[in-house]
Amino acid sequence: MIVSGSPVSARELAKTQLLDSTAEGEVLPVAIALAERVIAEKSPLKRARDIKIDFPNAQAFLDTARGAVAPLAKNYPAPLKCIDAVEAAVLKPFDEGMKIEGSLFIELLNSPESKALRHAFFAMRAAAKVPDVPSSTPLRDIKSVAVIGAGTMGGGIAMNFVNAGIPVTVLETTQAALDKGLATVRKNYENTLKKGRLTQEEFDERIKRITGTLSYDDIMSADLVIEAVFEDMQVKKQVFEKLDKVAKRGAILASNTSTLDLDKIADFTRRPQDVIGLHFFSPANVSKLLEIVRGANSAKDVVATSMAVSKRIRKVGVISGVCDGFIGNRMMNPYFRQMELLLDVGALPQQIDEAMEKFGFAMGPFRVNDLAGNDILWYIRKRMYVEYPHLVFSKTPDRICELGRFGQKTGAGWYDYKPGDRTPIPSDLVNKIVLEESARLGLSRRKIGDEEIVQRALYSLINEGARILEEGIALRASDIDVVYLTGYGFPDFRGGPLFYADTVGLPNILRTMREFAGGYQPDAWKPAPLLQQLASEGKTFAGWGKQS
Ligand SMILES: NC(=O)c1ccc[n+]([C@@H]2O[C@H](COP(=O)([O-])OP(=O)(O)OC[C@H]3O[C@@H](n4cnc5c(N)ncnc54)[C@H](O)[C@@H]3O)[C@@H](O)[C@H]2O)c1
Repeated sequence: MIVSGSPVSARELAKTQLLDSTAEGEVLPVAIALAERVIAEKSPLKRARDIKIDFPNAQAFLDTARGAVAPLAKNYPAPLKCIDAVEAAVLKPFDEGMKIEGSLFIELLNSPESKALRHAFFAMRAAAKVPDVPSSTPLRDIKSVAVIGAGTMGGGIAMNFVNAGIPVTVLETTQAALDKGLATVRKNYENTLKKGRLTQEEFDERIKRITGTLSYDDIMSADLVIEAVFEDMQVKKQVFEKLDKVAKRGAILASNTSTLDLDKIADFTRRPQDVIGLHFFSPANVSKLLEIVRGANSAKDVVATSMAVSKRIRKVGVISGVCDGFIGNRMMNPYFRQMELLLDVGALPQQIDEAMEKFGFAMGPFRVNDLAGNDILWYIRKRMYVEYPHLVFSKTPDRICELGRFGQKTGAGWYDYKPGDRTPIPSDLVNKIVLEESARLGLSRRKIGDEEIVQRALYSLINEGARILEEGIALRASDIDVVYLTGYGFPDFRGGPLFYADTVGLPNILRTMREFAGGYQPDAWKPAPLLQQLASEGKTFAGWGKQS
């Protein structure tokens, strides 16, 4: 109970010394009876210090507990310290036990993990505040939602609203696509029902709350419409022009686009003030993050309502300005590019993934790519080759894609996979391609340490984060941390990329970046002006957010 913080039912604890008395049903009469009995019997005040722990071989018990907790606690120091505190309470005199517990507490309070977790806690709360949109801003009423497109994202997006008790209409172009999308939603709910996390009644209600249609007539009264069709400007144009014609006055028109210019999308309508980006993350019914992309003309009440909606569907909303990739994906790009360039000079995918996972990431970059689909990233890269000719890329990812190795969905990507099994198996073929690419470039491969991998990865993220901050795409440094903590598997005990940057020290980061710039592909290491400015003034990212 102490280690996990999970509640334990009173019934389970009834026979322990933790509770004097328990009651079923009405508690008040039982509590009064207990109070009266204590007074009548003139019972002495019970004090924890007087309780004798009579447990044979307590030491062995505590050692077993340590053995069970250590692998679960991994990067979090507190759970094992809890056991130390219990040990002191059991084996030492009371006052000495209290003293030990006090010093353990102070030790934990000053640990980097505690500081990072407290930062994460306050960062999430700060993200909900938008300086020029006061909390008194009137909200638009959201009683019904329409989702356009029932693909990978549309179905998951719809589920969020259904779960929050809001009816959803899903619109598709063909009956087949609609049936497929709704069947996936149904299957998801069936799995939850089977696991006992939904009652049959709740299941029936949820299924009833979602309807499909092929006609825009059925979504005319929706208060919020979220578009999740193909990532193609022409298709978005078609959809938003149609929405402009049919959606009721005052409806919020949102796009789930990952990369397209939201302001252009808004201009397909005669009501750009009602248009906003609601960027969900896959799987949309699970991922906590919602980037709320504020267009040049998005009305303040649309921003405020979107933030309120994010809370209602239990997401963490973070405001982003309009740019390629918004906050999260824009930072991912240089990170991926850097990790791929590392393959050219000496690393292998599994080594990079292991180093990043040891640092605390839920998944390393190559495992992420295999999950997201290498074809999608290839498509994005091809666009970037044209739009950003100055950026440096490794050729290796394209070679992997040319072989049709798109990741888990094709049974092979950066890793091999056995049918029906998501466990990544290092691929001899991929490793051979990596070595061939180094040879083609005339590079002599060197041994790369885990520390260098983590530095290159994190400093790429941090450098782009600094640009995003100085351009005003993110409102504050901690918002960038929230995006990474809630949407990208960044370890919470490290507080997010910019909090982490402050703990490393910005001048130290710049120094290492300069060293990297002396090696392979120096262009990738141009420091962001804000990073340079803060480092030279002895300031931090956190401090910068507060001044502005
Ligand atoms: N897949 C992801 O991980 C992810 C994450 C965040 C955002 N997004 C964005 O979400 C959007 C949808 O992506 P997806 O992965 O769900 O794509 P998808 O291909 O799985 O689904 C798109 C669906 O839209 C339907 N559709 C196409 N044109 C339509 C139209 N005119 N009217 C109605 N329905 C139409 C298609 O039939 C298809 O079912 C894209 O803008 C994408 O960039 C995707």
